[in-house]
Amino acid sequence: MQFNFYLSKCMTVNENGMTILNGNQKRNPQLDDVITVMGEASALAQNLKQVITSPIRFFQTDQKMYIKSEGKLCLGILKIGRKNLFHRDLNGVIKEIQPICVLDFYVHESVQRKGIGKELFEEMLRQETLRPEKLGYDRPSPKLLGFLKKYYNLQSYIPQNNNYVIYSQYFFDNKPTNASQQQFAQQNHQQSQNPQLVNQQVQQQRVQPQQTPQKMDQLDQMMQQMSLESKQQYQSYQKTKAQPPWATDQKQYQNMYQTTTGMMSAQIHKR
Ligand code: ACO
Repeated sequence: MQFNFYLSKCMTVNENGMTILNGNQKRNPQLDDVITVMGEASALAQNLKQVITSPIRFFQTDQKMYIKSEGKLCLGILKIGRKNLFHRDLNGVIKEIQPICVLDFYVHESVQRKGIGKELFEEMLRQETLRPEKLGYDRPSPKLLGFLKKYYNLQSYIPQNNNYVIYSQYFFDNKPTNASQQQFAQQNHQQSQNPQLVNQQVQQQRVQPQQTPQKMDQLDQMMQQMSLESKQQYQSYQKTKAQPPWATDQKQYQNMYQTTTGMMSAQIHKR
């Protein structure tokens, strides 16, 4: 988006063309102009009924805006802010969380798909010392969903009534490194594609105690061990059942016979 002034005249631009604005920053008419124009373009690009980024909606808030510019061109904006959200998991349990959320993200049409979105996003992650899965996303557009999948492999989430997307990995302490966590994330993704299945699962899981993936692993191992032992017991029971009672202790009877005959012959010899 072209302006008739250098953007560095109305805001601090670093050597990478990046500006970080705080909501409590001092306003000026040119800066207001940049925010207004970019906010309107973003709403238009997303087909929004109302503009979500404007000077009135930004200043005097605790939000932050990352702006990428080049001389008189504003290439993109990324607006974030902390939100209080109620998130419903697959067990139907509602959790209150306060993630920093991506509220508005826009790169001018003339420079989309050239890595500017990634630059803005990475700068924000660095500054906020955050990982992408620890953020919330306000009504992400298909382009943003594609962006997050491509660069950060984020795709599994449970759709919420409030339209914020919180990826399953948000609730893991660390990145999903073990197989069961990945399976859990994958399962959530598949289920999120099928709301009916999600509801069935919620109904089933409500009556079961909540299990963490690690506990599920332990339980799984215990179940396997138990079924192996009971299989062995069952096989030995079947073996016993197949033989007549006298056949079971055949060796023992044989020993007894040998002992008895031995004793008898000893008696005869004695006499
Ligand atoms: N169609 C599909 N995917 C797209 C598109 C598109 N037109 N544009 C970008 N992407 C995704 C793809 O994954 C793409 O990778 P690919 O080209 O290999 O398919 C990747 O983003 C490209 O990455 P960047 O070049 O770094 O991204 P870009 O500079 O284009 O910025 C952004 C991404 C901000 C989503 C931009 O496309 C845009 O402004 N779109 C229109 C507005 C919008 O939808 N904003 C998000 C709203 S939701 C919210 O703000 C919470």
